Amino acid sequence: MTQTATTSSQAPVITIDGPTASGKGTVAHRVAKALGWAVLDSGALYRLTALAALRRGVAPDDEPGVARVAEALDVSFEGPHVYLEGADVGHDIRREEVGNFASRVAAFPGVRQALLERQRAFRLPPGLVADGRDMGTVVFPDASLKVFLVADVVARAERRRKQLIEKGISANLDDLLRDMRERDARDTGRATAPLAPAADAHVLDSSNLTIAETVQAILDFWQKANAGA
Ligand code: DC
Repeated sequence: MTQTATTSSQAPVITIDGPTASGKGTVAHRVAKALGWAVLDSGALYRLTALAALRRGVAPDDEPGVARVAEALDVSFEGPHVYLEGADVGHDIRREEVGNFASRVAAFPGVRQALLERQRAFRLPPGLVADGRDMGTVVFPDASLKVFLVADVVARAERRRKQLIEKGISANLDDLLRDMRERDARDTGRATAPLAPAADAHVLDSSNLTIAETVQAILDFWQKANAGA
């Protein structure tokens, strides 16, 4: 895969990678808020690609078709809002159907390549917290701090169920567990940019940590990294 040269003089980046529902999104937003930095939810770009492809009737096995959709994606982020072609789709991209489609098409090198520079463009001063699957390995290999957030699959399914219920969406734990295991296997087993910790990542298990404790652990890593700099 082609990679743009990055230098340490660029804005600092903290990457937070991990499996689905590991709490990356919430944690990334809170770490970014604590540091006064921007945040990149890279999964949202894959979900937006999936939603746009679904709406256009592009099949999930049509790699060139989905890659074209990714290249032409008309999206914008404003705070917590996500827009596709000018319409707020923050709720739609969280649907399980969209997440499953995203996980399938994220295996295509053409789709990943189409989204690569778009992700790097988020790297601006004073800094960026980027969450996803390959932030530390592919998109920002020179990140200042890399965290790989893991949590037990049952803990993650329970968290996801709670989130869905809070949004008024009914959810069955067994279905969520099955979907999550399938998605984990796809994200981990794909040939291009598989879900894996970077060699220099801190692996953090949040199964028994609260969100606040997880955020604090990452801020502590950041402080230690800077104290040693
Ligand atoms: O983090 P998420 O569940 O919103 O991501 C949706 C899908 O997008 C996920 O199943 C895998 C894919 N993804 C990816 O392949 N690489 C990323 N950096 C982020 C997400």
